[in-house]
Amino acid sequence: MLSMLNVCLKRLQEMPVCLLYPPMDVLPILQVRPMTGDDLDSVMAIEAASYSTPWNLEHFRNEIASRFSWPYVAVEGENVVGYVCLMSLFEEAQILNIAVMPGRRGRGIARMLLEHAFRLALEQGAEILALEVRASNSAAISLYEKLGFRRVGIRARYYDSVEDAVLMEKTLKENP
Ligand SMILES: CC(C)(COP(=O)(O)OP(=O)(O)OC[C@H]1O[C@@H](n2cnc3c(N)ncnc32)[C@H](O)[C@@H]1OP(=O)(O)O)[C@@H](O)C(=O)NCCC(=O)NCCS
Repeated sequence: MLSMLNVCLKRLQEMPVCLLYPPMDVLPILQVRPMTGDDLDSVMAIEAASYSTPWNLEHFRNEIASRFSWPYVAVEGENVVGYVCLMSLFEEAQILNIAVMPGRRGRGIARMLLEHAFRLALEQGAEILALEVRASNSAAISLYEKLGFRRVGIRARYYDSVEDAVLMEKTLKENP
């Protein structure tokens, strides 16, 4: 019975979520759906354009294969324009990666991906959502703070033994 429920839940999570940009007659539909192997060329291009030390193909393949991970893409028309990789294990979930195609930034795509990740993490039973971000990444820190993350610590010289990582958390569900 429980495994039937789990299967149904997973199916529901895998259904695409649609969002229409206004005005609908000018801009294409934006959709969030699970990442597949067919998305990886586009994902790798966005990854390379977004990070100085990008993930490799194997990282994304592992996310697609893992039962604890939920990698999702944002698709505009037929083009992948962003992605988020969520991992969830018991009470804690983590955002492992998020990026939006440079030409599509500033239009709410990361916000939409993160809000989707919040719902998924809650459905998996997570109470806390955690992430780490370069101290110099003010765009990402501002995005996370706007969506309710707070700074909870620093990992000194974490990136390339030079730059600090800011540790951030968002409470998804208060303890009773
Ligand atoms: C960080 C990133 C994912 C944001 O994506 P995005 O789709 O442009 O973000 P959104 O349009 O959803 O922005 C939502 C909020 O984030 C904040 N934000 C986003 N970009 C910002 C910027 N360049 N400067 C300041 N605030 C910014 C704003 O508060 C914004 O809200 P507003 O539009 O009401 O002002 C994108 O810049 C990116 O891919 N960067 C490279 C990869 C990266 O750094 N990932 C995070 C690693 S931890």
